[in-house]
Amino acid sequence: MKVEIATLFPDFFSGPLQSSILRRAQQQQLLQVNLHNIRDYTHDKHRTADDRPFGGGPGMLLKPEPVFECVEALQPEPGTPVILASPRAPLFTQRDAIELSAYNRLIFVCGHYEGIDERVQQHLCTHVYSIGSYVLTGGELATLVMLDATVRMIPGVVGKADSVSQDSFMDGLLDCPHYTRPAEYRGWPVPDVLLGGHHAEIERWRHQQKLRATRQWRPDLWQNYPVSPQDEQLLEEE
Ligand code: ADE
Repeated sequence: MKVEIATLFPDFFSGPLQSSILRRAQQQQLLQVNLHNIRDYTHDKHRTADDRPFGGGPGMLLKPEPVFECVEALQPEPGTPVILASPRAPLFTQRDAIELSAYNRLIFVCGHYEGIDERVQQHLCTHVYSIGSYVLTGGELATLVMLDATVRMIPGVVGKADSVSQDSFMDGLLDCPHYTRPAEYRGWPVPDVLLGGHHAEIERWRHQQKLRATRQWRPDLWQNYPVSPQDEQLLEEE
């Protein structure tokens, strides 16, 4: 997958892109990331990328011209997603990560300052996502979050296909707890069922843990989860 990122702060990406799985994906040629500085597409001698909002109000906005010109210079093919990170957008979910992972090219646009001229979202971008109900200083962190979640869904990026398919959210539930050695640490034991080697019992326990965690912590997910009679029974157990 080729990923183009239009940003005022290309340096922001160097650490995350040179670490761990995103680094390995690039080494394995499953991922290529090109950073593009929006400021290179300004035309005045001060390289001005921001301006005051029409109608007044605090803060500065990213101007449309350098953003349009930066993205247009990448010559997106029809159908290539041009993705804007913005707090004023629907939430990015695992489903979106899976959908985006199927494309061979993605273009991300990072807003900064108090926001970005609305015409960028309306007439340049094909997708707009928020990563959560809080405001970040810019779209760079949100872009990295979406990129990371998307790239790990590309086949071959994460070692075992199983470790992806059993993730939180893949089945509409949070993941179950996981333990490794030692079987007892500082007096805290690993649940007995995991040590017994009884596969069906382990799966049952894991599913019960997923149901409980989702019901307790994520009522938004729980609301959409189709609880079966067996699930009801698992939830009633102490
Ligand atoms: N830019 C600033 N805050 C953001 C958020 N929560 N999600 C996506 N982009 C953002």
